[in-house]
Amino acid sequence: MDDKLKIGIVGATGLVGQTAIEVLNERSPENCEFSAYATERIKGRMIAINESVIHVETYPSKPPDLDYALFCAPNEVAKTLVPEWRNAGIRIIDNSSVFRLDAAVPLVVPEVNSSDISDASGLIANPNCSTIQLAVVLEPLHKAFGIKRVSVATYQSVSGAGAEAVEQWENEIAGETVSKSPFPRPIHANVIPQIGEFNESGFTSEEAKLMKELKKILHLDNIPISATAVRVPVRTGHSEAVEVSLNGKPDLKEVSRCFTNKEGLVVSAPGEYHTPLEIAGSNEVFISRIREHPDEKGTFLFWVVADNLRKGAATNAVQIMEKWIVSGE
Ligand SMILES: NC(=O)c1ccc[n+]([C@@H]2O[C@H](COP(=O)([O-])OP(=O)(O)OC[C@H]3O[C@@H](n4cnc5c(N)ncnc54)[C@H](OP(=O)(O)O)[C@@H]3O)[C@@H](O)[C@H]2O)c1
Repeated sequence: MDDKLKIGIVGATGLVGQTAIEVLNERSPENCEFSAYATERIKGRMIAINESVIHVETYPSKPPDLDYALFCAPNEVAKTLVPEWRNAGIRIIDNSSVFRLDAAVPLVVPEVNSSDISDASGLIANPNCSTIQLAVVLEPLHKAFGIKRVSVATYQSVSGAGAEAVEQWENEIAGETVSKSPFPRPIHANVIPQIGEFNESGFTSEEAKLMKELKKILHLDNIPISATAVRVPVRTGHSEAVEVSLNGKPDLKEVSRCFTNKEGLVVSAPGEYHTPLEIAGSNEVFISRIREHPDEKGTFLFWVVADNLRKGAATNAVQIMEKWIVSGE
């Protein structure tokens, strides 16, 4: 009898899909066999996963025979395929934003709320990349002191917008004119304070995702959270300047101490910090420049960086799958 777990990667040729394959190769999960799916354009490409070489297939007309599927595809693909595949009994971890705020779908960062996995009925949503790294940092603070208010400004890399966006950036660097860009302004040698569309309150869809998803993951409905999301000309790695007000007015030492020895979190020594270039390819979240507000006791500022394709997407999704498999749910 073949008792191998059958795992599919949907959108296997995109930035997140390729990174998921890298992560799976590094973690070499035992007793699994893999399938990979993408559009007609890529059909037949060979990829190596976990010591086997497989062909990328086009999406089958009926749900395939799989135990788990990592969806790394755009919203329009997730909208139609996720419900169909889930109804066929496949457990799905979806990277798109379609189901993230659905109250019946857990939104999980394993270091923060892995217990929510037990509520999954066939589908777990992977949060937005900028949300994941912030949740990892806020969770120990909330647990130790209680959070009163959060304000964040993000500096998000071009790879956060997918393979086409990276191509656009490279074309701009090469001085080529491109008629249709995924960015609202030139991104080369620029900084764009707009990611996604504006809503009626003047926030962008990226900012709204960050604010709403954080509340869901941390189970913090009544805390004021505000965000300004900015695209920067960096290939990989999102950075965040964060300000948090805490209950209980701890001092700087107590706050710094609560980040030590936390799973998935690397704390820089005072005076040191990490940049996206240095941490690209890492699975952890990096925190540095921890300071107390000079005029407001109980308010702290820090700098948080993570690889958006790894912890912000693929690594988090694979970690969810690993926990889900172990939980036997
Ligand atoms: N990039 C990030 O940092 C990040 C972080 C968190 C979440 N996400 C989410 O993860 C998903 C994938 O993002 P990405 O950055 O990897 O995008 P990407 O580089 O554009 O890759 C998209 C993948 O989906 C496939 N695809 C595109 N259009 C399709 C269609 N109409 N029908 C079927 N398949 C289609 C592509 O196949 P072909 O190669 O054949 O075109 C490719 O494999 C998105 O939902 C995104 O919002 C991304």
